[in-house]
Amino acid sequence: MHKSKSFFQRYFLPVVAMLIISSITDLTAHNLPLINVTGRNIISLDGEWQIIVDPYEAGFYDYRHKESSDGFFRNEIQHDKTQLIEYKFTSEHQLKVPGDWNSQDPKLFYYEGTVWYKKDFKVTADLTTRLFIYFGAANYESIVYVNGKKVGTHTGGFTPFCFEITSLVKKGNNFVVVKVDNKRHLSGVPTVMTDWWNYGGITRDVYLVKEPKTFIQDYFIQLKKNSFNEIEGFIKLDGATSKQKVKIEIPEAKIDTAFETDDSGYVKINIPVKNLSLWSPGNPKLYDVIVSSGEDKIKDKIGFRTISAKGADILLNGKPVFLRGISIHEENPLKGRRAYSIKDAEMLLGWAKELGCNFVRLAHYPHNENMIHTAEKMGIMVWEEIPVYWTIDWKDKNTLANAENQLSEAIERDKNSASVIIWSMGNETPVSDERNKFLISLSVLARKMDGTRLISAAMEKHTNPSDPLTQIVQDPFADYVDVLAFNEYIGWYDGLPNKCSEVKWKINYDKPVIITEFGGDALGGYHADKLTRFSEEYQEYLYKQQIKMIKKISQLRGMTPWILCDFRSPRRVLPHYEDGWNRKGLISNKGIKKKAFYVLQKFYKELETKK
Ligand code: GCU
Repeated sequence: MHKSKSFFQRYFLPVVAMLIISSITDLTAHNLPLINVTGRNIISLDGEWQIIVDPYEAGFYDYRHKESSDGFFRNEIQHDKTQLIEYKFTSEHQLKVPGDWNSQDPKLFYYEGTVWYKKDFKVTADLTTRLFIYFGAANYESIVYVNGKKVGTHTGGFTPFCFEITSLVKKGNNFVVVKVDNKRHLSGVPTVMTDWWNYGGITRDVYLVKEPKTFIQDYFIQLKKNSFNEIEGFIKLDGATSKQKVKIEIPEAKIDTAFETDDSGYVKINIPVKNLSLWSPGNPKLYDVIVSSGEDKIKDKIGFRTISAKGADILLNGKPVFLRGISIHEENPLKGRRAYSIKDAEMLLGWAKELGCNFVRLAHYPHNENMIHTAEKMGIMVWEEIPVYWTIDWKDKNTLANAENQLSEAIERDKNSASVIIWSMGNETPVSDERNKFLISLSVLARKMDGTRLISAAMEKHTNPSDPLTQIVQDPFADYVDVLAFNEYIGWYDGLPNKCSEVKWKINYDKPVIITEFGGDALGGYHADKLTRFSEEYQEYLYKQQIKMIKKISQLRGMTPWILCDFRSPRRVLPHYEDGWNRKGLISNKGIKKKAFYVLQKFYKELETKK
């Protein structure tokens, strides 16, 4: 006989169970990377966002410093004059998105803390589609709320994140609130010490993305490693619960191939191809690629090329190539702000082209997509790096998880970009067992996600006290990379420029070598003799001596001197000469090309004519 359930069993228990489950499982959405976001059905949320600067995170913690779960919007609507409202988003306080806050408001120039952002948006479409909110990047920790409900969190200042908000939006008026906090942390990636400005804010584009119930979430479409006649990769649908038909069309290559996914919406692809026009600096050919499935269709422009290392050579499309490069920070030096736009990318990469570059090192973190795609169109190869920089907390497993997450987000985003040829696991990290394990884990992840590109890291050289003129490059991590890269500052931090002619190099690896940094500071427009520090003449002399020296390194196959432009750094406080700028740029923050610019340009012209 069916015993009726007591009130307790029928009502109280399920509620308690739900509360326990929800408290255990974070009900926020997971970050769902959407490849090629600008090729999708998007609505831009760029423009003015209302803000509240909140150095004590009063919108997040109460006066007992206990987390209050409903954030700044809890008193959003004032019902009557007697109601206490202590903070409110208003149009008097706004910031432009995309854009760092430091360069938009003098009061925020040095600010490191929380800023709350708010944007109203309307939803008109029928709700049969799925709706996502996509952030190109926000530095450094973000919490996203839609209509007062927490949607998701993200850590890392230089990679995209995206959450589904379908169930949270309603027809008509909606609003998104984002808590962005750029405080540095010892366990962060990067850690507390960096030689670049800690620009905070929603620094890249924000989009609403409309998708059908089942849509193309991700795909990898590249030439198979060392092959010119096989395109391979995968297509991944989101929302599939049974096998689905997907199609790849590359009309100009006469490709129109269908595949069937598994029940989860995933399928590996392999397409025979011949006579592709291979992407290269001299031929930055991009093909129209259309991926379709059911009601979803996404268009992309993809270049096909191979990159590999063989002995001490780097082979692009099977032929040895020398990487005539320069390092670049993601900053518009003329405006003193984070770079984010196509125009910023065209300016920076235009200067690199003018220098004679076929390669750029995008230091020390993944740059915005405009840099990657503009490089692809201009025929410039790219070194892409994650901010595993200097003294990372190697023992903290959360730090490793954070670094792995940023690496996977960078690879997910750029794995179809022909311009990207090298994934860098970090910069100038001090050798230790923990650091070696940490970097090896990253390199294993990178190879698992993308077997087509080269792996490296900017390492360091050292000397034995008994023989200070022999520069030794030896690093346990060197056995795990395809390209041996290192930074050296002979003539700036290490002796004077003439020391370049006195040193010998000991690099016992049969691998391609890239010198990822050399250089020295010069205040643009300051002229003196060639041994006066911070003069253009000193930097010019240093470049001449450096070039003479590195030409003697037999495995040298590339270089990315430090750095294209002067850039802001809180560590550079020498009055008059630095004033908050690192002056190693070949171009000053006023756009002056210093004398050393022409030394490197002349060398690259000689290399180009010699090849
Ligand atoms: C280091 C570091 C750079 C830094 C440079 C410098 O090698 O990699 O991030 O800016 O030296 O000291 O100017």
